[in-house]
Amino acid sequence: MNYLAMNRDELIAEQQNLLREYTAFKNMNLKLDMSRGKPSREQLDLSLDMLKITDYMDSSGADARNYGHLEGIPEARQFFSQILGVSPAETFVGGNSSLHLMYHMINLGWNFGFPGAKIPWKDCNKVKFICPVPGYDRHFRITETFGFELISVPMLPDGPDMDMVEELVRDPAVKGIWCVPVYSNPDGYIYSDNTVTRLAHMKAAAPDFKIFWDNAYGVHHLGDIRETCPNILQQCRKAGNECRPLLFFSTSKITFAGSGVAALGACLEIMKAITNYFFSNIISFDKVNQLRHVRFLKNEGGIAEHMQKHAEIIAPKFNVVIDTFNKGLAPFGNIARWTEPRGGYFLSLYTMKGCAARTVELCRQAGVTLTGAGAAFPYGKDPDDSHIRIAPTFPSTKELGTAAHLLCVAVRLATVERLLNSER
Ligand SMILES: Cc1ncc(COP(=O)(O)O)c(C=O)c1O
Repeated sequence: MNYLAMNRDELIAEQQNLLREYTAFKNMNLKLDMSRGKPSREQLDLSLDMLKITDYMDSSGADARNYGHLEGIPEARQFFSQILGVSPAETFVGGNSSLHLMYHMINLGWNFGFPGAKIPWKDCNKVKFICPVPGYDRHFRITETFGFELISVPMLPDGPDMDMVEELVRDPAVKGIWCVPVYSNPDGYIYSDNTVTRLAHMKAAAPDFKIFWDNAYGVHHLGDIRETCPNILQQCRKAGNECRPLLFFSTSKITFAGSGVAALGACLEIMKAITNYFFSNIISFDKVNQLRHVRFLKNEGGIAEHMQKHAEIIAPKFNVVIDTFNKGLAPFGNIARWTEPRGGYFLSLYTMKGCAARTVELCRQAGVTLTGAGAAFPYGKDPDDSHIRIAPTFPSTKELGTAAHLLCVAVRLATVERLLNSER
């Protein structure tokens, strides 16, 4: 049954069928929130043993319960340096949120200026930032809050459209780009070697251009294939641009979301500026949490083992959504497409143009809250009104099956309405 080949009468008949199905969902009185990518309780329980800590001395002999080690306790710097792919001296271990570190790095550039900047960003006439879309709403929100002009660049399966990025960075007002290189939020795409090389080598007019390299999902594989991407600091160093990248990571989706540990990597020159910046801001971050994380996760092998347990819980949830879309959307013509990530926390559903907001509204009225349509775009505006971010981790598999089924009905209903309203 191809909706795009149907005449008006056929579409009206289909609309009636769909309305009956939709009403049945409404009568189920569902109450489900799928609006944010949160771990489920079962996932959080995997890390409960981490809280059983009795010895608080760190590897330097200092008491983690006391002030000290602004850049993080030595074993935490060592641990996160391996994940970030930088040296321990190039690693700063912070508090419970990588987003918070990102905000502070924008603030550093804004108020004080990064090494190499002639003036801080606040004194520039205009500051622009590149936002691969769809992307992470909270990244965009940080740069929007500082009043930057956000420039959308399409996110392709191998990273942002680099032809556009290379063109844009010729403008000295363009000060940076947001990147989620592995299992991007929300498409689940991975930056290719070529994309990383081009980001490292491109000629940026701003001497203080920064790549915000947020590898939030770098170890969050769903199956046996473990996607990676080249080390951005090494690539930038090779290109003579070692001050360009700021690398972020956190354990929010490994241990506890909101009570994990975040880390930041950068070359030594930038690291000095970062440490200086935080010195006037805080005495030390939560080192007890750093210590228990390192003791619990141990090393890269320990993380891999732990992430395997997460994958066993969440991979079936991704599969439920994708199977439901295959059955509930694919047979009706080219009315939607979706990504099938091999890791991370999200997938993207793309409806026909002009149908996403209506789909989300139909779901809301039937008791299922999705991320608002457009949320993954700067200023919350998807110019095509076609993108919906799906966050499958939090609900149970059963709830997810129901929600995904409702979503299919809502997409089909929104599509039929759209086709009926368009000139045919
Ligand atoms: C790409 C990305 N970065 C960062 C975060 C937030 O991380 P944190 O809890 O460390 O601030 C999220 C949360 O969804 C995310 O998707």
